[in-house]
Amino acid sequence: MPDTPLRFDDLDSLRRTVAAWRGAGERIVLVPTMGALHAGHLALVAHGRAIGRRVVVSIFVNPTQFGPTEDFSRYPRDTEADLARLAEAGADAAWLPSVATMYPDGFATRIEPGPAAGGLCGDVRPGHFSGVATVVTKLLNQVGPDIALFGEKDFQQLQVIRSVVRDLDIPAEIAGVPTLREPDGLALSSRNRYLTPDERARAPRLHATLAEIAEGLARGAAAHPLLAEGIAALEAAGFGPVQYLELRDARTLAPLARAEREARLLVAAYLGKTRLIDNVAVLPA
Ligand code: PAF
Repeated sequence: MPDTPLRFDDLDSLRRTVAAWRGAGERIVLVPTMGALHAGHLALVAHGRAIGRRVVVSIFVNPTQFGPTEDFSRYPRDTEADLARLAEAGADAAWLPSVATMYPDGFATRIEPGPAAGGLCGDVRPGHFSGVATVVTKLLNQVGPDIALFGEKDFQQLQVIRSVVRDLDIPAEIAGVPTLREPDGLALSSRNRYLTPDERARAPRLHATLAEIAEGLARGAAAHPLLAEGIAALEAAGFGPVQYLELRDARTLAPLARAEREARLLVAAYLGKTRLIDNVAVLPA
């Protein structure tokens, strides 16, 4: 039987344990999550175990990063199943704060991230990245890890967090881990469970479309016509609305007209009622 991770819902106990680990010279890795853990999260834990001595996984469905019409109340929550997965993956501790612990009465501070949060998900989910930046800053302050791991599937989120950590001198390294995919290319996501069987069959077109466009861009083609064709192809495959399909600088996320430097192609589109996002790297032509 794998060891169950230590389970904390009280900040003082978590801090005492992490301080003891740190005092023993152990490198601490944080994997922040909203639960509903899948193989993508477990890959982050595995990566954490490879690079550190202690892996702390936070599970907190953060209300402040959901818009009023988004899926906060129906977001999948199953702490016991998550803890069983963390035991299999070899995590050392699970940090399970309540909403009242994270946002007690009188809580009044929000972090407003800079330009990395502009456009893309920042436009279609107003306030989302402020909610993410605030909660991630709190999690980093609570756990005090040497390094925190985030999936590249949420590529804009990763860049926003990097910019916040840099700007606020938070003493933690931020690392991205490549997206884990189903054999047919669909990026793993807690929201994939919302898809009907018919939608699940169509969903891999999202990644396939990105891969096709990325190939054209890597040959030096201009982005605009390829992106317009990609949107039309996604709509023909049953996606809609396509919220964005854009080529951005991989570091600053500034818009690019062609892949003249290291770039990222990013998409967000609805398939039925489910919003899917994905992205791929595009090497300079
Ligand atoms: O990517 C997520 O699961 C969340 O946005 C995060 C980083 C855990 C913050 O709530």
